Amino acid sequence: MNMTTTAPQDPLRPPATGLKAWLMAWLPKLIPFGFRVLRAVRPIVRFGNNFLVTRYDDVREVFLNDQAFRVPWDTKVRIITGGFPFILGMDDTPTYREDTAALRTVVRYDDIPQRLVPAVSQLAEQIVANAKGELEVVDQLVRRVTFEVLGSYFGIPNPPGEDLRVWATRLFEFQFVDSANDPALRFEVDVLAPRLRAHVQSVMDARRSSGQEQDDVLGRCLKAQAAGDVRFTDDWIRVALMSFVVGGPPQPPMVVPQALEQLLRRPDALVGAQQAALANDDTLLAGYVFEAMRFDPLGPALPRVATRPSVIAAGTSRATSVPEGATVLAAFSSAMMDERRLAHPQSFNPRRLDHEYIHFGYGLHACFGTQMNKALLPLMLKPLLMRPNLRRAPGPAGVLSKRGAFAERLRVNYD
Ligand code: HEM
Repeated sequence: MNMTTTAPQDPLRPPATGLKAWLMAWLPKLIPFGFRVLRAVRPIVRFGNNFLVTRYDDVREVFLNDQAFRVPWDTKVRIITGGFPFILGMDDTPTYREDTAALRTVVRYDDIPQRLVPAVSQLAEQIVANAKGELEVVDQLVRRVTFEVLGSYFGIPNPPGEDLRVWATRLFEFQFVDSANDPALRFEVDVLAPRLRAHVQSVMDARRSSGQEQDDVLGRCLKAQAAGDVRFTDDWIRVALMSFVVGGPPQPPMVVPQALEQLLRRPDALVGAQQAALANDDTLLAGYVFEAMRFDPLGPALPRVATRPSVIAAGTSRATSVPEGATVLAAFSSAMMDERRLAHPQSFNPRRLDHEYIHFGYGLHACFGTQMNKALLPLMLKPLLMRPNLRRAPGPAGVLSKRGAFAERLRVNYD
């Protein structure tokens, strides 16, 4: 691996080979069926010191009980940030609450309609128009829209001669996907994390010394700092911005192409989504996209670690004792298929209610970007859905391929 070159790299690491490749291709296909069986016969199942929770009620209970089931993210957050905490890895402390509130003063809900919606709509339309009927959805459309729009909103440009998409996606993989702690990935992280820290700091320094005021997230942080708000130290601002870059933009290129693949598999749903896009009915369009995502969500489960001995689903026949230190896997993908809480979960229904989805987590650590995601993800597909005769490109390229947890490639054609 040559980390000194400035040649563009693939945001995704090389594919697995041999048995691992075979397992990674087949396991995801088997998981939904496995969850269905478990929900019926063994809704909370123990293997070793891990507990897999599969029913909607129990998944929500685990997420809501953040005192007993803590997020496991802090160790890797600190490896990435150089020793600093970020809300993602914190317990429900005053610092968590104050940091989250401070972040809301610079990442504002008003920005969604005022600047993010127009920016995503314009860039997605431009890409679809320029592609002239032949488009690769993962990289050419969704990754580009996400990184350009959010990079400029956060105020963090590409590092000179480097590719923020590669850095962020690698660090995201390390933070959230790498439960087996792959030493090769750690090696890359030990190079990339300090580079990202230095990059964000140098952007911050340059902005400050230029005296230039820009109304983006970085600009607002620097303004608060200059006004004497003691929370907005350089360390705090750098950690917040790098955590946003790592935690946010790598995800739309996973879930949005997955949603399109699910629509392409269901001709009626595709027509419905196209009609909603053409009618400019963004609420219904969002219904199609988030329903499609339910059939292939971000991942199967989110982990938590038990801080003390507890019981999940107490008072029911499935009540399960969990010892301190155990890992609890809250299978939100399974929860969204639980027939006890969702009517006809196997059928595609673009008019489901909000509570039927757990795409962006739940409880204390629910995604900070939830509202942004709800507004922006459907708009990334909208210009494409408005094109006549949208169809898969011929051959294997026209079917979504994945590399591990990441969507890799999906080519489409349109007139
Ligand atoms: C497709 C897009 C996205 C998906 C599917 C997604 C998903 C999630 C999920 C499932 C969690 C909960 C993690 C847990 O409970 O362990 C989360 C947390 C978080 N997300 Fe997102 N996210 C997305 C985009 C974004 C964006 C664009 C941002 C940046 C603004 C962002 C910032 C965060 C932060 C800061 C947290 C931690 C919140 C906390 O701990 O209170 N996410 N996200």
